[in-house]
Amino acid sequence: MRLINICGARPNFMKIAPLMRAYREEPGIEPLLVHTGQHYDHKMSRLFFEELEIPRPDLNLEVGSGSHAQQTAVIMQRFEPVLLETGADAVLVVGDVNSTIACALVASKLGKAVFHVEAGLRSFDRSMPEEINRVLTDAISDLLFVSEPSGLDNLTREGTPADRIHFVGNVMIDTLERNRARAEDSHILADLGLASGTYGVITMHRPAAVDHPEIMAPLIQAFADIQRDLPLVFPVHPRTRARLTEAGLDRQIGELKNLRLIEPVGYLDFLKLMAHAALVLTDSGGMQEETTILGVPCLTLRENTERPVTLTRGTNELVGMDPARLLAGYRRIRQQPLRAADRPEKWDGQAARRIARILAEWRR
Ligand code: UD1
Ligand code: UDP
Repeated sequence: MRLINICGARPNFMKIAPLMRAYREEPGIEPLLVHTGQHYDHKMSRLFFEELEIPRPDLNLEVGSGSHAQQTAVIMQRFEPVLLETGADAVLVVGDVNSTIACALVASKLGKAVFHVEAGLRSFDRSMPEEINRVLTDAISDLLFVSEPSGLDNLTREGTPADRIHFVGNVMIDTLERNRARAEDSHILADLGLASGTYGVITMHRPAAVDHPEIMAPLIQAFADIQRDLPLVFPVHPRTRARLTEAGLDRQIGELKNLRLIEPVGYLDFLKLMAHAALVLTDSGGMQEETTILGVPCLTLRENTERPVTLTRGTNELVGMDPARLLAGYRRIRQQPLRAADRPEKWDGQAARRIARILAEWRR
């Protein structure tokens, strides 16, 4: 089977890395890697290929940024001839970004098989672009690889035939487990003058928060309160950087002695930063899962999560975007940190192997 694997945005790279490695054990699979170019800064893309030893993409569609419709449409236009020319039999997509739905849709219309890794997750919040991407991608996928039990429940309830669904575990955790020891060699704590367990990490990039100064300003005020007690480091996503600058909020943050804005960092530095943090404040999807395995308390700045196992088995707590709830959550955690229960089922570093095995045996 000639299989095109799609990646495009930062959270895709951690998911694609273990898959590209696992295919080496399956001679029946001939993998190709296509990068859509949705993310393109060195620190949002290339750095991860180097650190995670992802093979150089066979092709980069170089779509860059744009509105949802523009970005999705350009990916589709550029991917269609590639799919035809390579004569691929199938396309594998991961996650929930625009590159995911765009390439799945092209493949499906050309009668190619579509495989979705991280299928079945639902926030039940259609105002999130990712939720639209998830629902649509799952609807046109031939095989749906599920990372946690809620994914099984959601797909079953939506009427997905059982023989298409495979509960395989979490490829993001494959990457975490593979790199955990290596990340300890990172010098990031020393470089930032931080000591283990004595600081917090922030990341935010969801449009629902960062595109609205009236939501961000009070949150930054809450960060200001927290940093008086616990130093905070905030690697800033490029969307967020642009919005903070537009709203003049970067200057306000600049006055806070213990809140450091830094550029996005590579996977190994970031893993070390998270692993040694007293807590993480984030709206990221993947980081809710990573902190669950690292046992680091995570306050998620959202009203919902498509990853409920991180609430029931992990260290995650939803605090929304209300500063009062965030501060109450912070005080609770400082008094009594959340402890993770047994790790979620099949989050054992072997998910990509299971997927490659199933693909090797798959016949339409
Ligand atoms: C995208 C995904 C989101 C994911 C996030 C992870 C969609 C709809 N959104 O959001 O699900 O959680 O990636 O990081 O697919 N930019 C740069 N350099 C880059 C990339 C982006 O400067 O390398 C800036 C551009 O101004 C761009 C903005 O960031 O307009 C947003 O990028 P985009 O890929 O559209 O969405 P993200 O917010 O990154
Ligand atoms: N990450 C990173 N450097 C950073 C911020 C995040 O390597 O500066 C990693 C993080 O550990 C996780 C992934 O990027 O593996 C999450 O990506 P992101 O938050 O962009 O997307 P989401 O998970 O929200 O879709």
